[in-house]
Amino acid sequence: MAFASSAKLAVEVTRGGGFGFVGAAFATPDSLRQELAYTRQSFPDLGNRPLPIGLGFIGWLLDANEEQSKQVIDISLENNVQAIWLSFGADLSRWLRYIRISPANARATHKPLIFVQATSLNEALVAANEWKVDVIIAQGNEAGGHGGKAAPSTMVMLSEILAALPAQDAPPVLAAGGISNGSQAAAYLVAGAAGAVLGTRFALTPESPYPDYNKAAIQRAKSSDTVRTHALDWAWNLYSWPEGINGRGIRTKIVDDIDAGVPHEVVRARYAKAAETNDPDYMVTWCSQGASLMEDIKPAKELVEELHADIVRSLQKGQQLLA
Ligand SMILES: Cc1cc2nc3c(=O)[nH]c(=O)nc-3n(C[C@H](O)[C@H](O)[C@H](O)COP(=O)(O)O)c2cc1C
Repeated sequence: MAFASSAKLAVEVTRGGGFGFVGAAFATPDSLRQELAYTRQSFPDLGNRPLPIGLGFIGWLLDANEEQSKQVIDISLENNVQAIWLSFGADLSRWLRYIRISPANARATHKPLIFVQATSLNEALVAANEWKVDVIIAQGNEAGGHGGKAAPSTMVMLSEILAALPAQDAPPVLAAGGISNGSQAAAYLVAGAAGAVLGTRFALTPESPYPDYNKAAIQRAKSSDTVRTHALDWAWNLYSWPEGINGRGIRTKIVDDIDAGVPHEVVRARYAKAAETNDPDYMVTWCSQGASLMEDIKPAKELVEELHADIVRSLQKGQQLLA
């Protein structure tokens, strides 16, 4: 499974045998219609079956523009997307209630599967026990982009959630955060995950809309080069992420300046100037700790196929330990 920010990338992930999500947090009704039209064209033999990709929305952004958010969710339902992923909201349950098939959206025939990304054990338990979601994503501290400041590592988060969920009728739990290759994904499967979510790894594909300078920064990064911080959001003049959430990206001088107490407006002015030349020392690159293990840029479909083969090899290798 991959979290992507364009339909092109999500389509290729699904074609490769994974399941592609489009990050639709900043989608407008028009842009979303375009992305979904592209997706539908890409799967011409679909008939009445659901569109084999998912859409990801961010709770506090949905709350911030309720009218538009209802429109984009209606468009998602009318297009029968297979899944909707929700994360980072004070109360996601109101949006979960909104995602339903009703006479108002007559063209919708399929209720999407609901994925909720949890950044703590408590969030996972609310999602499973109160909201009865279909899938939980256990997002650990290594994850690229936004996540829980106090989240434990992905392995600890996954194990905590699996241990706390009831033995019967619990939703499947996927592992997310810092996964770079198939052997890591296989380790999470052996630990009880129902699947693995990779985000940063798919930034290094030709289909990814990440600019080349961000891709190059990920290729260069060592795990110690990434940091969980508010500084990168502040350089973007973004202050509205919920309490307890910050973002992981490459530690550039933006972070040093914020840590040293440089006023935020000065940081923003330096950032705007640096952006003119794509200065790598003052850049914002969201990525996971696993960036240290990522080098090649390859087509997303090929990458999914390679990950799958690597997972199978790793599981077979594990079996040999029992021989
Ligand atoms: C560039 C980028 C953008 C992301 N955007 C979102 C998002 O819009 N919504 C969300 O729930 N998670 C988002 N994430 C986090 C992913 O959902 C997921 O937890 C993470 O990508 C998986 O970890 P990895 O990047 O460590 O592989 C983003 C991650 C990255 C790297």
